[in-house]
Amino acid sequence: MRAVSSFLHYLLFISAVAMNFVGTGGRRPHDHYAKPQVCKQFCSENKIVQKRENYTPKSRIVDVMLQTPMFAFNRSDSDGFSAFRDQYDLPKGFKGPLTEYDFIVVGAGSAGSVLAARLSEGGKASVLLLEAGLGESMLTSVPTLAPLFQMTSSVWPYLMEHQPNVCMGMENERCFWPRGRAVGGTSVVNYMIYTRGMKEDWDRIAAKGNYGWSYEDVLKYYMKSERAHLREFKNSPWHSKDGELTVEDIPFRSKLSKAFLDAGKLLGNRRVDYNSPDGFGFSYIQATMSRGIRMSSAKAFLHNNKKRKNLHILPNSRVTKILIDPATKTATGVQFRTNGQIYEIRAKKEVILSAGPIESPHLLMLSGIGPRKDLESFGIEVVQDLPVGETLYDHISYTGLAFVMNTTRLTLLESNVASLGNVLQYTQFGDGPLSSLAGVETLGYIKTNISEEIGDFPDIELIGTCASLASDDGKVVAKGVRLADWLYNDVYKPLEGIDSFTILLMLLHPKSKGYMKLRSINPFDQPKLYGNYLTHQKDVSTMIAGIRYILQMIDTPPFQKFGTKLHKKKFPNCKMFEFGSDGYWECAIRTITATLHHQISTCKMGPPSDPSAVVDPELRVYGIRNLRVADTSIIPNTIAAHTNAPGIMIGEKGADMVKQTWGL
Ligand SMILES: Cc1cc2nc3c(=O)[nH]c(=O)nc-3n(C[C@H](O)[C@H](O)[C@H](O)COP(=O)(O)OP(=O)(O)OC[C@H]3O[C@@H](n4cnc5c(N)ncnc54)[C@H](O)[C@@H]3O)c2cc1C
Ligand SMILES: *[C@@H]1O[C@H](CO)[C@@H](O)[C@H](O)[C@H]1NC(C)=O
Ligand SMILES: *[C@@H]1O[C@H](CO)[C@@H](O)[C@H](O)[C@H]1NC(C)=O
Ligand SMILES: *[C@@H]1O[C@H](CO)[C@@H](O)[C@H](O)[C@H]1NC(C)=O
Repeated sequence: MRAVSSFLHYLLFISAVAMNFVGTGGRRPHDHYAKPQVCKQFCSENKIVQKRENYTPKSRIVDVMLQTPMFAFNRSDSDGFSAFRDQYDLPKGFKGPLTEYDFIVVGAGSAGSVLAARLSEGGKASVLLLEAGLGESMLTSVPTLAPLFQMTSSVWPYLMEHQPNVCMGMENERCFWPRGRAVGGTSVVNYMIYTRGMKEDWDRIAAKGNYGWSYEDVLKYYMKSERAHLREFKNSPWHSKDGELTVEDIPFRSKLSKAFLDAGKLLGNRRVDYNSPDGFGFSYIQATMSRGIRMSSAKAFLHNNKKRKNLHILPNSRVTKILIDPATKTATGVQFRTNGQIYEIRAKKEVILSAGPIESPHLLMLSGIGPRKDLESFGIEVVQDLPVGETLYDHISYTGLAFVMNTTRLTLLESNVASLGNVLQYTQFGDGPLSSLAGVETLGYIKTNISEEIGDFPDIELIGTCASLASDDGKVVAKGVRLADWLYNDVYKPLEGIDSFTILLMLLHPKSKGYMKLRSINPFDQPKLYGNYLTHQKDVSTMIAGIRYILQMIDTPPFQKFGTKLHKKKFPNCKMFEFGSDGYWECAIRTITATLHHQISTCKMGPPSDPSAVVDPELRVYGIRNLRVADTSIIPNTIAAHTNAPGIMIGEKGADMVKQTWGL
């Protein structure tokens, strides 16, 4: 009976931690509790968010999981994810938030979780961590369920403003930009791919006057967090084993993952550790997981620190304003709303925004920091005129290629994955198909033959998978990205039940640049988000070159031994083009213009000479004292990375900067 699973351990661990804080102690004499006020205006989420609170997504895998004793929770409960929801009660002896803390961190995401953990280390400073979402549920721990949560209240359901000629194949022709909304932030719902960016990316950022951000500088912080268990790179000098964030190989590997790497090799690509300074090439994915369980930023950095008396974590608390003294231009605290009440809490030292690339700039604007003309048009008193939200880069992708094979059971068909055997395999050993990142397995960085860059500087990332949009019969992945039914039914439905897979390509350095603007003074209204995708023709031609590269890979023996063929069904809206022509592929990428959710730069970092900068290289908001932004919104340039690890690195580095300022 020694086969007690790591998963079970994890569950016991969570409930033990939760139990620890059930008791209520007395208030300590020197602590003063903050007094809430009744909220009169803008008190709750708008309807689109509320509707999701009661929504439990349908998935055959979840259905089978629920049949096992491990997951025997109450199915008629409206919060289907409430079982074993990670609890964040205040430490023993505290009954509510205090009137003041040294630091207030807004947002417990990839970056905010680390920041709060580091600043409260050693007990020298008090930290309040405010998070709009709730603790993560048990289900988010299961990697293969990742796409499911885009439909739930675990994300902010942002929609990009309508842009003609992109996202044409999405519902209402609008792109969906979900962001994580939980303690752990987007690291609770993401695909767990761990990437740091190329050496060249960070060195370019530093060369623009961002001192302290060269590759060598940031590597130190990546490694500070990392606890790597990678079969191929056991004694690598580029990985650390001493941090809190486990980085591991994905336990599950399909035969297609090897085909992808072999095909890459035949086309002249090296096998590399893409998280080393020599990262240009092909590799298995390194993932933020621990024995098959998602390692969110919350699990890595907050779980073990719940007992710290000087770290107060408040979920379900939506910050609506940064309090700034206009006379001294000093941030003095924040206002937040929870359960129809308003709190105002003072920060003795600093307020740090880690609310992510949409809410950090949004909060700045609501608090009078942003483009003067825009703020004035809403009657907001301008505290500091800054280009908040005026730069926004994103990584778009094309997920629409589908390849079919003459095999069976080489891919992750949901109907095969959803078996009792696989569920037990996962709960006992943390492996099997449930540990797959929903089919994502391998990466390849390439430079297309139209790139004008010199040297090993990739313009496209290829992502190898063992699943396609049809693998789950269109119920989860396609629904999650809001693919329109007319497109799915026509093109992908015929592939249901047979082996098919996709290779994705991600445009690493788009020349098209987006922006965002305030929609209203209601803090619960989502800001207006403009992706401006594919407005630069070079982006279109790079994507097409990437598609052609994939087709070359498919033609090599490693894929041909499975009889792999491109599914040549024309998109109904692209019928006027010859299949496979440049015109056709352009139409296709404008139809499935899929974001991989790496929005950055909305609170761009830059030296004083940079007119588009919002924060300085030490992350301080220009013109305002005691206010920093530390999350992915500060990344000034496009980088060849998925942005979770960069977010965590920014949290680490930000924490050190803050500590240095205050002599901690
Ligand atoms: C579906 C999906 C898949 C992805 N896959 C990957 C991947 O495989 N690998 C990868 O590296 N990256 C991936 N990403 C991107 C990556 O996870 C994010 O870029 C990263 O987590 C962002 O970190 P952050 O700290 O900037 O913000 P977040 O992690 O988003 O944290 C912001 C936090 O602030 C909270 N918040 C916001 N506003 C307020 C407010 N007013 N008051 C209180 N709290 C607030 C939010 O709820 C959230 O918890 C993915 C993203 C998505 C959406
Ligand atoms: C299950 O949840 C429903 C709705 O919350 C509740 O009425 C019911 O009593 C619960 N059943 C059990 C066995 O806890
Ligand atoms: C790039 O490669 C493709 C084949 O993949 C070829 O058709 C095209 O002519 C090449 N372009 C250049 C500029 O070499
Ligand atoms: C699949 O196709 C390959 C290449 O054409 C062939 O060698 C193989 O025998 C085929 N397998 C099956 C099961 O048809």
